[in-house]
Amino acid sequence: MTYDGDYSFSPSSLYTHARKDQDFFTMKILLTGGAGYIGSHTIVELDRAGHEVVVVDNFVNSQPEALRRVEKIIGKKVKFYEADVRDREALSKVFEAEGSTGAMIDAVINFAGLKAVGESVAKPLEYYENNMNGVFVLVDVMRSHGCKNIIFSSSATVYGDPAMIPITEECPKGQCTNPYGWTKSMLEQVLMDVQKADPEWNVVLLRYFNPIGAHESGLIGENPNGIPNNLMPYITQTAIGMRKELGVFGDDYPTHDGTGVRDYIHVVDLACGHVCALKAISEKKGLAIYNLGTGHGYSVLDVVKAFEKVNGLKVPYSIKPRRPGDIATCYCDPAKAKSELGWEAKFGIEEMCRDSWRFQSNNPKGYEA
Ligand code: NAD
Ligand code: WQD
Repeated sequence: MTYDGDYSFSPSSLYTHARKDQDFFTMKILLTGGAGYIGSHTIVELDRAGHEVVVVDNFVNSQPEALRRVEKIIGKKVKFYEADVRDREALSKVFEAEGSTGAMIDAVINFAGLKAVGESVAKPLEYYENNMNGVFVLVDVMRSHGCKNIIFSSSATVYGDPAMIPITEECPKGQCTNPYGWTKSMLEQVLMDVQKADPEWNVVLLRYFNPIGAHESGLIGENPNGIPNNLMPYITQTAIGMRKELGVFGDDYPTHDGTGVRDYIHVVDLACGHVCALKAISEKKGLAIYNLGTGHGYSVLDVVKAFEKVNGLKVPYSIKPRRPGDIATCYCDPAKAKSELGWEAKFGIEEMCRDSWRFQSNNPKGYEA
């Protein structure tokens, strides 16, 4: 299977809720946190693959406008419930309402979570409470409605300072440097234990590397609140004049130009990775863990140069001290996702830079305007 225009794959005959539709099976998928950056792009790709999508979000870090933009792209309404995943009653109602339509929710993709690393250091309790409790309640409600298929948004952060480069899924998990990272690491363990205790569960842990870019329409993209923590939104906001200059955090790492190296992945490729990950559920793999990255490492200055070249812009920058908790190099070996799911990233750094800028320049104030 490839995901390039063809999402079909053979479903397991044991798969209970899959429905034969056209020449391949489709599922009904609940996306928690589906109004966010990665979730909104994933709605588009799931829809394109013929799946039915239901979204739950409490808009703590997103806006309803994101869903309206998705509707423009896919040309239909997005089925949406405004709810907090920690609200057991509200979540149960979603499962009941969906079940009463005759088509139960087959699988959940859990994007819901708080993700700002710096904020998690300042507000550890809020992060542990939202991210951990959200999954506890979600999984319990899923179980009580007979839905035991979950794809969980994990992160390369679980590898800590990685013991090997490129990072395979065999690489031991490491020490996280912030509460956000620990929520991912601990929730992976929670979900593994749930699956171990009840093998009817299919748990897919997707470890994302560094998602950047935006949908080619320029309608949806990353819309951070306040001063961005991450590199690409800081670059685009500098390029548009919202920030004076980019601070490059350290130029004395053991990398080709001294700046930190990461595995940037186009968010549309990442979204497609979720569609392909449904194969692991359809094949009833039990527990499956995949890195989602390109396998290529780019330094901070490589990204700045690529952004300037592809968009014909200048990004003023100056070298600053290292940022606490940062590592020198992080990129993955994505071979497992290719061999087992038929997925591989198809966009390169130039497309990532082009699409990030298209979203920023079309939406100087994000979704607000
Ligand atoms: P995002 O903040 O744009 O999206 C998360 C969504 O979850 C938001 O719409 C937010 O409103 C919602 N949400 C948060 N808590 C909720 C709750 N209790 N109930 C209901 N909705 C809630 O983030 P994103 O970049 O789209 O990331 C999606 C997931 O992927 C997150 O879990 C994040 O930790 C993980 N992840 C992101 C990255 C990244 O760099 N963007 C990397 C690795 C992993
Ligand atoms: C990338 C590189 C910085 C900003 C974080 C989380 C991780 C995951 C992805 C969610 C580094 C440098 C950055 C700036 C800079 N998120 N940089 N100036 O740190 O790899 O990963 O986001 O799961 O958990 O930790 O991504 O985009 O913050 O940084 O020089 O203003 O850019 O030092 O080398 P990171 P990032």
